[in-house]
Amino acid sequence: MIKSIINLMRKSPDIQGESDEEILRKRLDPARIPRHVAIIMDGNGRWASSRGMPRAYGHRAGVESLRDIVQISSDIGVDVLTVYAFSTENWKRPREEIDVLMDLLVEYLNKEIDELKEKNVKVKAIGKIDELPEKTRNAVAVAHKKTQNCNGLKLNIALNYGGRAEIVDAVREIAIKVEKKLIIPQNIDQELIARHLYTSGQPDPDLLIRPSGDYRISNFLLWQLAYTEFWHTDVMWPDFRKTHFLEAMLDFQNRKRRFGGLSK
Ligand code: IPE
Ligand code: IPE
Ligand code: MG
Repeated sequence: MIKSIINLMRKSPDIQGESDEEILRKRLDPARIPRHVAIIMDGNGRWASSRGMPRAYGHRAGVESLRDIVQISSDIGVDVLTVYAFSTENWKRPREEIDVLMDLLVEYLNKEIDELKEKNVKVKAIGKIDELPEKTRNAVAVAHKKTQNCNGLKLNIALNYGGRAEIVDAVREIAIKVEKKLIIPQNIDQELIARHLYTSGQPDPDLLIRPSGDYRISNFLLWQLAYTEFWHTDVMWPDFRKTHFLEAMLDFQNRKRRFGGLSK
């Protein structure tokens, strides 16, 4: 579909010599860029296996996609980008794979943080950060500190993240406040719960992208996804590039969101 749009546009004399990315970007309505995009970065293992390579090779390749998608999100003016990097269930994987993932994260943060700062990207890790290995916690803390005054794209890296665990954490915090008489149960409402989630103060995702052909949420942002639009592709995460992201943006801009009401 997207290829046919690009080919059609290429027939126009004023777009000679432009890249696919430039062509797609021109079609975006700058007034309707999603404020918050969430991505389940999936398919690294299958991508590697299909090339006869170990899973770690796919995870490493996936970092390149992350780099590209952070850049394009920042360029087109997305406010929040939340990427799912490691779930609370991913501890079920073999020790060596977990180690590779943790090492890659540290490497990504150490390597990229100065450039992220330069691009005004504010990095935040969301999840049960305390349970991560020390080197990962340290890299996260440094990234957080270095970019704390940035006011461009907010990059949430979901790390040891689980939607249910997040809700449990919020309930626990609220219960403690009730116990201390800082909150009365009658005042617990949706806004109060949202304020106790890791994404406190941020808008809910407008768009969720899941590459790699699976149709499930896998415990991602369970509360926040209530009215999020889904976009799905069979492309594996290591092959996911700016043009795929722009394709998702264009598709999103053609949707009618009703939030339970009637369309205007
Ligand atoms: C996503 O790719 C990365 C993480 C879950 C950490 P996978 O490792 O899940 O790759 P597949 O889904 O097995 O191909
Ligand atoms: C979701 O992918 C978690 C991340 C991408 C970090 P999984 O590969 O863990 O999800 P399932 O097991 O296919 O549902
Ligand atoms: Mg997977």
